Amino acid sequence: MKNLVDSPGEVSRIDTSGMLDVVKGFPGQIKEALEIRPEPARMPSADGINSVVVLGMGGSGISGDVVGAACAGSLKVPLVTVKGYHLPDHVGPDTLVFAVSYSGNTEETLDCFGRASARGARLVAVTSGGRLAELALEGGVPIYRIPPGFQPRASLGYLFVPIVSALEQMGAVSGVARGLKEALPMLERRSEEYGPDVPMEENPAKRLAVGLVNSLPVIYGQEGALAVAARRWKAQVNENAKVPAFDNWFPELNHNETVGWQNHAGICSMCHLVMLRQPEEHPRVSLRVDITSELISGSVGHVTQVYARGDTGIERLLDIIYLGDFMSVYLAIELEQDPTPVTRIEKLKRRLADAG
Ligand code: F6R
Repeated sequence: MKNLVDSPGEVSRIDTSGMLDVVKGFPGQIKEALEIRPEPARMPSADGINSVVVLGMGGSGISGDVVGAACAGSLKVPLVTVKGYHLPDHVGPDTLVFAVSYSGNTEETLDCFGRASARGARLVAVTSGGRLAELALEGGVPIYRIPPGFQPRASLGYLFVPIVSALEQMGAVSGVARGLKEALPMLERRSEEYGPDVPMEENPAKRLAVGLVNSLPVIYGQEGALAVAARRWKAQVNENAKVPAFDNWFPELNHNETVGWQNHAGICSMCHLVMLRQPEEHPRVSLRVDITSELISGSVGHVTQVYARGDTGIERLLDIIYLGDFMSVYLAIELEQDPTPVTRIEKLKRRLADAG
């Protein structure tokens, strides 16, 4: 029998809002986002900044992590992503702060934005509107206004590219935007390779999804870009397929989680470990991945290795994120879950708002 992901009728029956089409449009989104200009055009200076802080939650917050990974080697000050209510004590007049909220109404981000503003930080907003756009307008803070009507997690291109553009414009990084442009032909090829028209046998995203159907995905990355990708895979599986998933990264997991697979055989056997890898790994990390796979393969249900492909670090980062995005939508389809709605997040936000 055909898998649901290979039946266009079933795909459109389940994916009622067209998440698959939105994911397919990722390269176009990056291209479009590279053209977005801030309003008003005057940007704060990056001269003498001690750090870059990105405020954002969930699908918006991951943009900070992606920028951190994409700018590694170019940005000479630390980049911290703040995912919560606490604004680090070091944030002040010499900090460049990006407030990123797709809706513009996320309370943690708005809270930190208010405090960063009170401390005289240099501010930039990335949003489709909401309260964040209002506050930015009132305070003369430049806004990268991105198109409305998408799910935040399906707007990754719109959310992270403006931060890169801003950092380039301010002279805080160089060559990253060019790297993104140069990655576009690769991403366009991947949108075909991972896309719905390629059947499961030849489509790595569909194969991975089908392999994860009856298990609890545990995604292992590696310090740096692959840890960011693992976090993205986990969140996309949660929100698109509506199943639990967990992530961790090498080498840190060797100092704790590796031991944790020793007991609870029933739960461990339900877990499918996905090891995110890349051609040029730290040699000691490669060795760690191999040894760890050997040590724990008898405890977990499955271990799958997935390699990021591409000629540059940026290409490999985007390739593996893209593969995970497609995979999570196919997993949703196989589980007959409409990938778009995130009813629980909405309910939770409503109840918080009602509580005042
Ligand atoms: C929904 C999603 C969520 C939101 C998060 C913050 O698609 O990805 O994780 O991103 O609830 O909301 P925004 O992005 O509007 O600030």
